Amino acid sequence: MVETTYQQIPLSTLAPERQVGIKLFLRTGKDRFVLFINETNLLSATKIDQLKQNNVSHLYLNTGDRQGYLSYIKENLSAILTNPDLTENDKASIIYETASDITKELFLQPSTKSIEQTRNLVDCMIDTISQSPKTSNLLMMITNQDYYTYTHSINVGIYAILMTRKTLPSISEAELKTLGLGFFLHDLGKASIPNSIINKQGPLDQGEWELMQEHPTLGADLAWEMGTRNPAIIDIIRTHHERCSGTGYPKKLPQQKISEPGKICAFCDVFDALTTKRSYKKALSTFEALKIIRNETPEHFEQELLNPFILLFGEQ
Ligand SMILES: [Fe+2]
Repeated sequence: MVETTYQQIPLSTLAPERQVGIKLFLRTGKDRFVLFINETNLLSATKIDQLKQNNVSHLYLNTGDRQGYLSYIKENLSAILTNPDLTENDKASIIYETASDITKELFLQPSTKSIEQTRNLVDCMIDTISQSPKTSNLLMMITNQDYYTYTHSINVGIYAILMTRKTLPSISEAELKTLGLGFFLHDLGKASIPNSIINKQGPLDQGEWELMQEHPTLGADLAWEMGTRNPAIIDIIRTHHERCSGTGYPKKLPQQKISEPGKICAFCDVFDALTTKRSYKKALSTFEALKIIRNETPEHFEQELLNPFILLFGEQ
């Protein structure tokens, strides 16, 4: 017989008057759990208040229902993140965990739906950072150091959104949300490159490298096909590997033809590639990575963006 295992979830991640869609349990002893609500019940505000009055801060789910819980969070993200009882730590973990779930799906099966989910995530994340700025530091700290295309997209998305707030302080929330989606989607084209190339443990051969250099164009085409028509988003996807020296790819654009968001994305993209580990390389420290990027500025990276970029990490 398979033993049931239970996992703790903060009560503050549950929004009132909604169906969670999974069984939730109360812990009544060391290894004793009793059913609190089943998958079809609404979790009423009264029930939540009763739990709070009894100093219950966590409920439990069957470990096998974790995916159902993540789906519930994804569908109710905005309501959950605006709950005043939610701690900043919990906000950051929910954002990161939901981002992992959504971007994994995005790269596995790019679709209009997965792009819309990413848009909703970015919107909720930017609203949360604006309302509780401490969340941004926590998000920077929980970025995942194991390199996968999806973790890379989240890390770059977080860094680039925070850097844009610093370097373009008068940007509107709506514009920041648009650019934020572009940052999260910057490597979308890797969904069109075979996994054997993406996950190759070592240097790419000439043909593989040529195909890899197509990913900004493939990504822009894919985003367009999926209904993303905003030129600022398409521009980030297309230009994140262009360099001020005019030696980048795919177009070898000169410095003045690369947009500010494209240049911001380039900093964050290289920094994350350097500070994450892969099977064939170790992760560099923040200090070592910043030193490399500083040495490559202004040749490859925009001089005026270097200091704000370094400060982004210095403040952690
Ligand atoms: Fe890329």
